[in-house]
Amino acid sequence: ESAKSKKIPQLAEYIKSDKCKRIVLMLGAGVSTAAGIPDFRSPKTGLYANLQRLNLPHPEAVFEIGFFRRNPVPFYTLARELYPGKFRPTLTHSFIRLLAQHDLLHMCFTQNIDTLERQAGVPDDKIIEAHGSFASSRCIECLRPYDNDDMKIMVECQDIPHCHHCENLVKPEIVFFGEALPPKFVNSIGKVSEADLLLIIGTSLTVHPFASLAWRASDSTPRVLINMDSVGDLGHRRSDVVLLGKCDDIVVELAKELGWYDELVALWDE
Ligand code: OAD
Repeated sequence: ESAKSKKIPQLAEYIKSDKCKRIVLMLGAGVSTAAGIPDFRSPKTGLYANLQRLNLPHPEAVFEIGFFRRNPVPFYTLARELYPGKFRPTLTHSFIRLLAQHDLLHMCFTQNIDTLERQAGVPDDKIIEAHGSFASSRCIECLRPYDNDDMKIMVECQDIPHCHHCENLVKPEIVFFGEALPPKFVNSIGKVSEADLLLIIGTSLTVHPFASLAWRASDSTPRVLINMDSVGDLGHRRSDVVLLGKCDDIVVELAKELGWYDELVALWDE
């Protein structure tokens, strides 16, 4: 415990030092569970443990492009529950905005499709939504854009949207298994090797290529994992720091050490 209790003050000291100018973040669903959005792989509460009612061949099928073409109903059933608008950002999201305000945020890579980073006020040019989002939609065949308001209505009514031009299936621009990640992600991978600090928060690091970003940090760059459980190869490098627990709790402790606590709460309360 005493080793753990020193880790956060040491991390705060590093963040305040001249050595730490560029912080890169890697986020996963664990960042948003406190907002009321389930993650995917937690054993009891995760989305994949609660999809029996959708009669899927296996849970991930709901996000597989091949399965979606044959049967879009399970995805659109879930889409209604996950559709942005009814959730508010967490303390961890506000902490990321604070990093940007202190001119420390180099890039925030997120796997989340909930757009809570944007809602928290993290600048658009510092966010890479590696798995896309609900913010735009397209036909999966002719690729023509599909109107967002129409999508919202279709999702609410539990109707399956089809392209107004070719009548094929339309889907939000969420990256499904079997699809490529956005060019913006591919073009920004290099940012990770420029980092003075890599913060990895709320992800099981099981989905590639996203998870492999963690290997791109230089050997001397501290990689800090903030997660409920130990994941990936975090802890294998001498410079790794593993902080286990709820990310909001850890971020609050860190903000206190940085002298940012009042600022954090004020941002979050906005
Ligand atoms: P997972 O559900 O795989 O992992 C979430 C991680 O966050 C787990 O290790 C949890 O223990 C941890 N966690 C949960 N709540 C937390 C909290 N309050 N504080 C700290 N840690 C917490 O989610 P992702 O890693 O994001 O892809 O999943 C990666 C991708 O798999 C997703 O983007 C999605 C999914 O299939 C697509 O949909 C394309």
